Amino acid sequence: MKRPKITVIGAGHVGEMCAQYAATKEVADVVLVDVIEGMPQGKALDLYQAAPIEGYDAKLIGTNSYEDTAGSDVIIITSGIPRKPGMSRDELLETNVKIVWDVTKKSVEHSPNAVLIVVTNPLDAMVYTAWKASGFPTNRVVGQAGMLDIARFAAFISMEIGCSVKDIRAMLLGGHGDDMVPLPRYTTVCGIPVTQLIPAGKLDEIVTRTRNGGAEIVRLLKTGSAYYAPSAGTIAMAASIIYDQKRILPCAAYCDKEYDVGGYFVGTPTMLGANGVERVIEVELNAREKDMFAGSVKHVKQLCAETEKVLSKR
Ligand SMILES: NC(=O)c1ccc[n+]([C@@H]2O[C@H](COP(=O)([O-])OP(=O)(O)OC[C@H]3O[C@@H](n4cnc5c(N)ncnc54)[C@H](O)[C@@H]3O)[C@@H](O)[C@H]2O)c1
Repeated sequence: MKRPKITVIGAGHVGEMCAQYAATKEVADVVLVDVIEGMPQGKALDLYQAAPIEGYDAKLIGTNSYEDTAGSDVIIITSGIPRKPGMSRDELLETNVKIVWDVTKKSVEHSPNAVLIVVTNPLDAMVYTAWKASGFPTNRVVGQAGMLDIARFAAFISMEIGCSVKDIRAMLLGGHGDDMVPLPRYTTVCGIPVTQLIPAGKLDEIVTRTRNGGAEIVRLLKTGSAYYAPSAGTIAMAASIIYDQKRILPCAAYCDKEYDVGGYFVGTPTMLGANGVERVIEVELNAREKDMFAGSVKHVKQLCAETEKVLSKR
């Protein structure tokens, strides 16, 4: 059997951590790509040299050439600029559309059967860009945001209750940004709705902190954005695809009739397997949640319109 292969484009903070999680968890062999000469090669070699100590079996190479990425099962796109304090994700759009378009074109040429996982921000617009650039069917293009957002929600719930993170199943919908739609009534701790365990006021504070979770880290780091949790989420998605695990994970997936979105990538629970997004799961929403979701989708549509403007100038 052929060894599974993941290409990670962009060997910055998120890219290098994706490589590390993929290798140490033995999800796949890894090709790390960046425009900076020597940097992906150095990081991949260092990670390879950690393998005898940690005892993981994964081959890693770093490169500046897309030929080395040929035949990848999953391509993870992290290339682009991150936020600085005070910046919104949307301010990254123009620069990152061009980068994501370019790296998608180059990588799919060598891996026409891969599944693309996009991480670069503003996420929902970058998934749209990668889809357009790749010409792939919608099931083979997906974005990582929900994994990070539910992980933040779960971490804050565990801090509040003092319980293990392992027993928390958090849930949210919508775009990656301040208008995400956390769903406390679908969030459980060992099957018990979290609404029974945390008073409403405190839960509202946790929801607000989750919405602003990215900005909180950007403010603390001062030079860049989060990378441990986003990378962990991305590799969980890659593993579900490579090993056909059919896990139900929140991802930015193409929704047309689903929730009446009309053909955009938005955050929703999805089933991830060998064919990429194998199913989009529609969650029943009450009037307030529908309103929040509609606001989130409107924002995604605005971002995609901006993306189209940048692409039309090419
Ligand atoms: N979706 C999410 O949940 C999430 C979470 C964290 C970060 N992000 C986003 O991921 C992106 C990367 O973040 P980071 O912290 O790793 O940034 P970073 O600056 O550490 O790394 C980005 C890397 O991309 C490389 N790059 C730029 N243009 C390239 C090109 N054309 N080809 C190949 N490589 C190229 C850069 O050289 C750099 O090494 C940002 O847009 C950030 O906002 C998304």
